[in-house]
Amino acid sequence: MHTLLEIIKRTTEFLVGKGVESARLNAELLIGHALERKRMQLYMEFERPLTEAELEKIRPLIRRRAQREPLQYIIGETDFGGLRLKVDRRALIPRPETEFLIELLVVRYAGLEAPRRILDLGTGSGAIALALAVAFPLAEVVAVDASLAALSLAQENASKTGLADRVRIFQSDWYESVERSEFDLIVSNPPYLTEAETAQTALEVRGFEPRQALIAAEDGLADLAKILAGAPLYLSGSGVLALETGITQHEKIKVLATNAGFGRTEGQRDLAGRERFIFASRGGFNTSSLI
Ligand SMILES: C[S@@+](CC[C@H](N)C(=O)[O-])C[C@H]1O[C@@H](n2cnc3c(N)ncnc32)[C@H](O)[C@@H]1O
Repeated sequence: MHTLLEIIKRTTEFLVGKGVESARLNAELLIGHALERKRMQLYMEFERPLTEAELEKIRPLIRRRAQREPLQYIIGETDFGGLRLKVDRRALIPRPETEFLIELLVVRYAGLEAPRRILDLGTGSGAIALALAVAFPLAEVVAVDASLAALSLAQENASKTGLADRVRIFQSDWYESVERSEFDLIVSNPPYLTEAETAQTALEVRGFEPRQALIAAEDGLADLAKILAGAPLYLSGSGVLALETGITQHEKIKVLATNAGFGRTEGQRDLAGRERFIFASRGGFNTSSLI
């Protein structure tokens, strides 16, 4: 019989051998998930021998992680913007950078009139749309995606978070099925990687996350270009387009934005200091509230 601590140590070594980063943390989280214990609770049970039934629950999860399936897909949940969202292979795992985009938007609108109509293009798990619905409680949110699989997950998350009546979710190829109307805020984290960049990502990303969520043609700019070109038709006069982008794309995106008729574009960096977000509007917007 092996104790819990022995199993954690063996699992950690096994995962290290499979190239998993933060192997000990992964081992603890997966074992905790299998045993329905929080990490802190595991520490209090380190010396307890595990039963065969418990090991049976742990093994398949470790096997999946050893094949480099992302931890979040195995656990089936992730935290985003204060919400606990369901995640699985139907959609991209929402990232901390995208959470930071939500924070930038909240700061941007602090002291200003909050956006009343919001559009999230390429909603995936629904992360951006749902977090913005919480951040702006009076807003009506529309969330679209081309992927039916992603949309079913987004809908489940809208129900799980109690936001289904505030966030309308449906299929659309970017703006195609969105009614022409005036949005105060359009947000998108579209695919922006090239095939070559995707091939360089961790196995967790390139092997498991939907390609449709990652890769865009034309040097990763094709979808950003479509979103920029269409936005003026869907934005109110003072409306803002907020985009998450690749880290080497800002110069080209600013040209695309100008060509689309945006009078003002502004780049923002992520927490690691990389150019990651673009805010565009027709006229000047008050940047004093931006970080
Ligand atoms: C990078 S993921 C972002 C998912 C989510 N918004 C997030 O931030 O976690 C890009 C999303 O765009 C969607 N997408 C790709 N092409 C699309 C298209 N032509 N029209 C609408 N959505 C599209 C993908 O299915 C995917 O869910």
